[in-house]
Amino acid sequence: MTASIPYQLLRKLLFQFPPETAHKLALKLLKLGYYSKINPLFYKKVHKPINLFNITLDNPVGLAAGYDKNGDYIDALLSLGFGFIEIGTITPKPQAGNPKPRLFRLPKHHALINRMGFNNLGVDHMVKRLKSCQHQGIIGINIGKNATTPLEKASDDYIQCCQQVYAWADYITINISSPNTKGLRELQQTEKLTCLLQAIIASKTQLTEQYNKKVPFVVKLSPDGELKTLLTSAETAIKLGIDGIIATNTTVSRMGLSVPEQLQQGGLSGQALAEKSLNIVGQLRQTLGNEIPIIASGGMMDVEQALAMRDAGANAVQVYTGLVYQGPQLIREIAERF
Ligand SMILES: Cc1cc2nc3c(=O)[nH]c(=O)nc-3n(C[C@H](O)[C@H](O)[C@H](O)COP(=O)(O)O)c2cc1C
Repeated sequence: MTASIPYQLLRKLLFQFPPETAHKLALKLLKLGYYSKINPLFYKKVHKPINLFNITLDNPVGLAAGYDKNGDYIDALLSLGFGFIEIGTITPKPQAGNPKPRLFRLPKHHALINRMGFNNLGVDHMVKRLKSCQHQGIIGINIGKNATTPLEKASDDYIQCCQQVYAWADYITINISSPNTKGLRELQQTEKLTCLLQAIIASKTQLTEQYNKKVPFVVKLSPDGELKTLLTSAETAIKLGIDGIIATNTTVSRMGLSVPEQLQQGGLSGQALAEKSLNIVGQLRQTLGNEIPIIASGGMMDVEQALAMRDAGANAVQVYTGLVYQGPQLIREIAERF
């Protein structure tokens, strides 16, 4: 797929700036497009409703976490035609993340490397944003732990975030797979995962009663490590009462890359992740059976990749790096054919 001519021009302009500056600029432009009512003229929402964890999505194409970490651009992002968006990762306390530069482009590979480290303004800020937005679509909220919270106390952070966002969330994602928070991925190991999820599910049960509202919880998994371990993590999560899986987060692998930026530390996303994520989605579907919702994330750069994910067993897909390289028309193109 080639990006539309207007987006090619915009991308050329944005790529003149350092990646993080370009990202902020793109978000400001989006907001401008929303308030001036331009976005819906260019980006008509495709209506192809699907049911995912008893929620009706207008279409199966979502925005992946990390694009709008604080929930500052919810209405603007929904106006691009997404069936759902996932905001966050949010942590209880605000934190600065890793030193800049921490986001790198690999245009030759249609990829990005990031080591942002959960830079965010904290859950109080997000709740304010959720209260003030129009909420004209499905909003998932991706939660994590602060870098300073020891792993043994991680559940406190996740539970605090759950309690604060529950009333506003259409679904909640438990992120235990970012490579940029030290030790986070250890939470995928069966014993630690069981402790963490038992505590979260107990809190979920309370919140369901308190708000008289059932919010689905999903776990987002890493593409790295042993496949067998990953499949066991997914099975464990489902057995404990988790409603679905997002596969996958970014990878620390650099297989197939041939540019100097590949030496940067962090998580790789985009084209270079596609094959790995696709394989994992297929394996997850075989392991979990047909009933468990799987949202595919990783390398959704064109319609063909999204269709391959669907055929491998994904119920819905999320895009991030594809949006950077191909622009928002990718959303409609995938939604029409999925
Ligand atoms: C700059 C950047 C920041 C990200 N931040 C988060 C995050 O905060 N939480 C999360 O779960 N995933 C985060 N991700 C991962 C994406 O949500 C997505 O899972 C991953 O990039 C693979 O999809 P893609 O190939 O379409 O980009 C981030 C990705 C990028 C590129």
